[in-house]
Amino acid sequence: MPYPEQLKKLIEKVVSTRSARVERKKKNEEFPALKLEERDPVLRNFHPDFIEGTRREIKVGPSKGYSISNEMVDILEAKSRVSPDLVDLTQPDYETDVLVIGAGGAGTAAAILAAENGTKVLIATKLRHGDANTMMAEGGIQAADKVGKDSPYYHYLDILGGGHFVNDPELVYTMVSNAPDALRWLEGLGTNFSKFEDGRMKTMHGGGTCRKRMHYAADITGAEIMKTIRDEARNHTDMIDVIEFCPAVEIVLDDSGRCAGAILYNLETSEYHYVRAKAVIIATGGSGRLHIQGFMTTNHYGATADGLVIAYRAGVPISFLHTVQYHPTGVVFPEQAEGILITEKFRGAGANVLNVHGEQFVYEREPRDVEAACIIRECSPKGRGNGVPTPTGKFGVWLDSPMIDMLKGEGTVKKEFPGKSILFRRFGIDISKEPMLIHPTLHYQNGGLDINNRCETNIPGLYAAGEVAGGIHGENRLMGNSLLDVIVFGRIAGERATEYINGMGELGKPGLEHVKRYNEEVEAANIEQDRIAPMLLPDYSNPEVREKQLTKDYFGTLS
Ligand code: FUM
Repeated sequence: MPYPEQLKKLIEKVVSTRSARVERKKKNEEFPALKLEERDPVLRNFHPDFIEGTRREIKVGPSKGYSISNEMVDILEAKSRVSPDLVDLTQPDYETDVLVIGAGGAGTAAAILAAENGTKVLIATKLRHGDANTMMAEGGIQAADKVGKDSPYYHYLDILGGGHFVNDPELVYTMVSNAPDALRWLEGLGTNFSKFEDGRMKTMHGGGTCRKRMHYAADITGAEIMKTIRDEARNHTDMIDVIEFCPAVEIVLDDSGRCAGAILYNLETSEYHYVRAKAVIIATGGSGRLHIQGFMTTNHYGATADGLVIAYRAGVPISFLHTVQYHPTGVVFPEQAEGILITEKFRGAGANVLNVHGEQFVYEREPRDVEAACIIRECSPKGRGNGVPTPTGKFGVWLDSPMIDMLKGEGTVKKEFPGKSILFRRFGIDISKEPMLIHPTLHYQNGGLDINNRCETNIPGLYAAGEVAGGIHGENRLMGNSLLDVIVFGRIAGERATEYINGMGELGKPGLEHVKRYNEEVEAANIEQDRIAPMLLPDYSNPEVREKQLTKDYFGTLS
């Protein structure tokens, strides 16, 4: 739906301040960024992570006592979908060397590397191959590949700064030092990055970065990368098999505690299958579809933290899950597109973020958590109350995309942001002429399963890579480090799993004793007994789930 009259009137205020703002930008007169000491109070007062009552301690499992979001605790404290005593593990339905659970960026990269190292791989995915957050990523992939102008050292420092200096330094080091190679790998496979006519890759800034190192493919970088690596994986027909619509619902361990495969649930036939595997790589992605605190989300339909649940039940600790990433700019109007990501690249290209008066209130390239908290403060009636009201009573702020054409030349928006231009055009909105109305949207699971820089968990033969793992991004990930994370750690997981199976000897007797024990722990802790996880798909037919998405006071109500 195009902007209704009431919003068109408010857009006039944006237009009235636009020329002056563009002129200031041209002179590099930026809106002042918050000083380090100014960030903390905004985060504490307006970032959703700090709202009282939204977290609780988990009562069971290897990270018992750790306080994380209620929604996450709900699924971690749930019982298994399978009755361990009734599952027959004597005859596997599938056998493979490495089972990769999840077919997004990390899983696919892992599968390719394992196959290239001579290992038979089975990829099991809940939806189709490539239905993943990787496919939906827009803005880019960071890599410090400009020798002389940038270095992995600066990249490392930016990541630590963005993550509040609590990141696992080994993981960060591993990621930044492998980044240039990961980029070359993707390019070599045929990923079409945006380039200048002379062949150099275009790069941009992201929030919280001191150098331009964001490489991109217009505003559909994730789709371009996913398409390339999916094709590559599918070309390894002799080494990689893929089964779709078969999420994993439990990890299987052998009698000496090593990983021995997983139980899959076939969504089409409702059957369970045992996959016997010498090693398992969990690459199930994130958890946006838990709609933490009722937030809308950028995430794909299958992002329900399944891998986290089953690995936790098998004994893998978790960390950094006490923070969640709300991307500053999600669509808040038109409602049909609510929650959809509007890439940070718009801000990297110069678009200001403006309140209902058409005034800038935040530097547009703050680290994500700070930017999101400033926007919430501006919108919230408990904050500054300067949000732009939508026709259904929510609030947002403007992202002034037409500035980009004024700064970089007519046609830039359409050329550099084809994905969003097309999306908005469907609703009769031309984003090269009219701003977008945005609000923070649940985007990324900052933490996850504990791994080391070989992607090993504490369970021999069980690996994790990508969004499901924690530690790399500390308490806040910066833009472009997620696509990098999935490629770097996906590849490492594939290589290390291969190395492991080559030296592991024979698997012992497979079992689900750990699931039994977990169920008993849940019962002993007197936890509500009707929850089952992994949830697999969000249940939007349930009125309680729907209501939760619709009634959040961040948006306030129109009076
Ligand atoms: O804004 C974006 O394009 C998102 C990128 C990311 O989360 O890395």
